[in-house]
Order: sequence, then C-alpha cells, then structure tokens
Amino acid sequence: MTVMIKRTFKCGDIRKSDVGKEVALNGWVNRRRDHGGVIFIDLRDRSGMVQATIDTSKTAEAHQLAESIRSEYVVAVKGVVIERSADTVNPSMPTGEIEVQCNEIEILNTSKTPVFSVADDENVDETLKLKYRYLDLRKPKNLEKFILRNNIVKRLRDYLDENEFLEVETPILTKSTPEGARDYLVPSRVNPTHFFALPQSPQLFKQILMSAGFERYYQVAKCFRDEDLRADRQPEFTQIDIEMSFVTEDDIISMTEGMIKHAFAAIGENVSLPINRISYEDAINLYGSDKPDLRYDFKIVDITNLCKEVEFKVFRSIADNGGLIKGINIKNGASLSRKNLDDLVAFSQKNGAKGMAWITIKPESGLDISQYEYQSPITKFFKPEELKPIIESFDGKPGDVIIFIADNSTVVHRVLGRLRLEVVKLLNVEPKQKYSFVWVTQFPMFEKTDGRINPLHHPFTMPNIKSIEDLDSDPLKLSSIAYDIVLNGMELGGGSIRIHNSDIQMKILNLLNIDTESANEKFGFLLTALEYGTPPHGGIALGLDRMIMLMTGAESIRDVIAFPKTQSAVCPLTDAPGTVSAEQLQELSIRLKKPTGE
Ligand code: AMO
Ligand code: AMP
Repeated sequence: MTVMIKRTFKCGDIRKSDVGKEVALNGWVNRRRDHGGVIFIDLRDRSGMVQATIDTSKTAEAHQLAESIRSEYVVAVKGVVIERSADTVNPSMPTGEIEVQCNEIEILNTSKTPVFSVADDENVDETLKLKYRYLDLRKPKNLEKFILRNNIVKRLRDYLDENEFLEVETPILTKSTPEGARDYLVPSRVNPTHFFALPQSPQLFKQILMSAGFERYYQVAKCFRDEDLRADRQPEFTQIDIEMSFVTEDDIISMTEGMIKHAFAAIGENVSLPINRISYEDAINLYGSDKPDLRYDFKIVDITNLCKEVEFKVFRSIADNGGLIKGINIKNGASLSRKNLDDLVAFSQKNGAKGMAWITIKPESGLDISQYEYQSPITKFFKPEELKPIIESFDGKPGDVIIFIADNSTVVHRVLGRLRLEVVKLLNVEPKQKYSFVWVTQFPMFEKTDGRINPLHHPFTMPNIKSIEDLDSDPLKLSSIAYDIVLNGMELGGGSIRIHNSDIQMKILNLLNIDTESANEKFGFLLTALEYGTPPHGGIALGLDRMIMLMTGAESIRDVIAFPKTQSAVCPLTDAPGTVSAEQLQELSIRLKKPTGE
C-alpha cells in the first residue's frame, strides 16, 4: 500500500499565517470527538498537534470513514487552514489559533484500542509501559527527551571534533575490562569453552589508542555491567568516553568543563567556570558523601573534642574510644514534628547508627544563647557550660534543630550524609540553584571492602607517588590522581591520570592480589603496550544517560533510554533475556544445569 495523500506540512508547524492554504497532513489520531455533524480530530506527528475538522454532512464517504476512526489510527488528511473563532482559540497549543477543515481523509492504518492512553497522562505500571514502549514513546513529553538527547550528543560531538578528538569505535566482543561490576559473557562457538566479555567500559582500548599515538580519543560508547540496578543505573548504558595524551589532571578537567558548559547551553543553562573542587576527604567530612549534593547547605560539624569531658556517657565513651560525634544544624528545622524526628531516628538506625540525638532550640527562645530553651532527649545530661560550646559550634539559633550521630567514622559519615538528604526531602528545602556541579578530587587509591583491598576507581589509575618504592608503604594510605564530576548529588562522570609505566602497573595489580601470572593472562596486552613507548595519558567518562536524566528532570534513567531494562534487568518489550534452543547450546558446547531449587 502506498501513501495516497502525501504530506505537504507537518502538524505542529501550521500557523495563523497559513490561513487559506491547502495542506496535506499525515499523523496519528491523538483524540477524536464527535459533535454530531462535525468530527474533531487532534492529529499528531513528531512536530506536534493540530486540530482537524471533518464535516460529516458533506460526503457520505467522509462520514463513514470519520465515524470509524479511533485513537491512534494513522491517517492522512487534505484540507484548508482556517482561523478559529475567538471563543475556540486554544492558547495552550502552538497551533491553537487555526484548524484544518478536511475535504479528504484516508486511513493508512488502524489501531487496536491502546492498552493505555497516549493522549492522557495516566498512571501506568512501568512493565506495561515498557512492553508497549512504542505507545509510551508516542507521548510528546517522552519524545522530547530523545530530541534533547540527540541535540546534546550532537553538541558534544561538535565540541570534541573542534578540539581535535578522533571518534574511534572499540570492540564489544572483548575481554573483561574491570570497572567493579560483573561481566556479561558471550560464548564463542568457534572457540568452544571460551567466552568474550562485553566491555564494562572501553578503558583498556582507549589507553592502547594513546599508545598508538592517537593523542585525543572519544567515543559515544555502550558499556555493559551486570550489577544491581537503581534509578540511576542500567545494565547497558552510554558513556561519553575520552582519553588524552601528554596531559595533567587540570587539562582534562578544563576540557571537560568546556564540554559541559557547551552541552548545558542547549537547555539555556550558563554553567559558570571553573567548577569548584573539593577533596574526597572534605566531601566525606563535610557532607558525608563522595558525591555531595551542594544544592543544599547543612554542613556536618565535628564536636568530638567537645565531648571528651562531658557527662553524657553515650558521647563521652565514643569520643574516648576513637569514635566521632558529629552533627548537622537543620536551620529553621523546628517545623519538624516529633514524628518526623522519630522517623529520622528510625532512618538512622536502619542505616546502621545506634541512635540519633537531637536538640531543638525553641523558636520562642531569647536571642542570646544564655536565654535559649531546648527541647531534647539529651540536654538533661549536659551541664550548661558543656552545652554552650556545642551549640556555638553549630551556630545554633532559635528555631534550629541540631541532630547528632556518635559512632565510628564510617557510620557517622554515611548516616549523616543520608540524613542530610532525608531532611531536605522532609522539609521540602528549596535548592540554592537548579544545577550544582562540583569536582571531587584526591581520591584514595584503595579502600578495604569485605576484608579485601579494592581500587576506588579502577586499577589503571595513577597513584600519587614520587617513586615506585612509595608503593611499598601502607596501600590504604595512598591517594590517586582521580576525579569525579558530581551534579546534584549524582556521579556524572569519573576519570583519572593513568599508569603508563608497566612496572608500576604490575605492582598495583599485585597489591590487588592479582599475581604476575594472572595479571599477564588478564591484562598482558596492556602491560606489553606500556613497554613500547606509551605516553603519559589520562581521561574521563561521562554518563550520558545520567546527564540527560538530570537535564530533563526525569525521575529514572529508564525515561531517557529508548528501550531500557527493568529493575530486574529484563526487557518487557522483547522478553529478553530468553531461553535458547538445544541446537544453539550444542553448537556452543554449553550444557545447562538446572538452577538450584527446581
Ligand atoms: P566509571 O565506572 O566511573 O568510570 O563510569 C563513568 C560514568 O558512567 C556512568 N555509569 C553508569 N550510568 C548508568 N548506568 C550504570 N550502570 C553506570 N555505571 C557508570 C556514571 C559514571 O560516572 N573507564 C572509567 C572512566 C575513566 O576512568 O576514564 C569508567 O568507566 O555517570
Ligand atoms: P540512651 O541513653 O541510649 O537512651 O540515649 C539517649 C539519647 O541519645 C537518645 O535520644 C538516643 O537516640 C541518643 N543516642 C544513643 N546512641 C546514640 C548514638 N550512637 N549517636 C547519637 N545519638 C545516640
């Protein structure tokens, strides 16, 4: 079947200046209303929507067709643009001053009644939305996100192109590139018992491209990570991946800042440069997180020293035993109800604290600290002269609520970091700005998790050392030349200066309990390349999906990915992952074991 009525205009483009013109339109029926003799159709295509009217009294044929039309039918119409009468103008539509009076209509395809309305914004179960993703994507507000995504990628490409970066595609069927997640594996038919891994990032290839002398590389790169999913994580996602030779951390940071500024200009945001930097240590100490959300104040204050002599045993014993007592002044927090405070205590305990103490400075107190009246479960345990310097440390004023956590450093920072954001939600605190960027720098090289030493970034990050011997000291004390760009409390990207010396690289792998033999087996190709004149280099990768998510205000990363996976890593549209036939398994020399429990 061919399109008989071929469009001459796009629905969303018609304006008052087109009145009198004969137009042909193709699109979907967003809504159809039958007003007796006249049928109104909101006709939608990618450009927008226009109202088409069909006078069913004109021809029997038009009447019959128009009667049968339903939502989401695909139609072609021909007609004349006319001005709407003043009382029917719709100011909320760009085409609201006109309508198209149809004299010909053709049904190009019918549609079953959609399983959920495309025209209305009803609450639909996400799995159902993803199963019928094409219907969901027809909604203009969803389409808009992909139009923006396209614009941003184009801008990023333009910027990188102007700065002499080469876009190079790196393999998808490859060897494990560790970024801290599990690999997705692909069995090789030609090499039975052998598997490819899908790349967690192009990390090793981009480093090898530096060895190859490409100097500036980028890629809009698909990455695959088998990890637990959250609102800002997908098993398959896109990075703007960058690597540069002969550079310092500052060079990469300023290149990235220019790129971010250029991208955000597309949504009318003027990102002021340079973006502030905060060390990892300060980020943890002041905000309890390595991705602090700086749209809000609520800094963490340390009062451990003030608690060493106090009568209140809970605080004193923790201060005496190497723990910390820290807190946050929730400015004007007195509107928190007793129930809110109880909920915050429960929240703290759920996150691993033993308790959460609080002091409300009653709003009706006198302005001088000597006149402050408190409401609190703990002030009775303090002498006034013990309490005064504590309240002063927080710059406490009438109407403020100070909350405290006493524990070891990890628990104190984790819990206060989360409480900070919980309080923001509870009090509905206005952000200081819409977009708050910050660089977090000077990351430790390693951390200890589950009794094992792990890299904070990846094992190819350059430690902050003067000579290789420095690696013989306590590895947990080493810092690294790594940096993250954080936006509104979300890690938007991360990168580092890399190790370009094979001895240092081997030693780092050894520190991670990868012996020389397995290091060579896993990363021999990189170690060898480092022996053949690899220049000093470094780079960064920005999470494109996360960036678009923040730019569009989407609640989930799934909203900005055309065909995302659910939280349980399946695709409801295609039903992937699926089972495979016995023949395929045989070809791959794979025998399946029944999962335990069946
Ligand atoms: P990293 O692992 O920090 O670094 O990833 C860089 C950025 O990618 C995004 N990201 C994700 N987005 C969606 N879903 C996920 N599962 C996911 N995981 C990561 C984040 C993150 O900041 N090779 C290094 C970069 C480098 O050192 O140059 C790397 O991949 O926005
Ligand atoms: P208790 O003496 O255990 O009843 O605690 C007195 C107050 O101190 C209560 O409000 C507790 O919530 C609080 N509290 C107890 N342990 C801690 C802790 N580790 N950090 C902060 N506050 C605590």
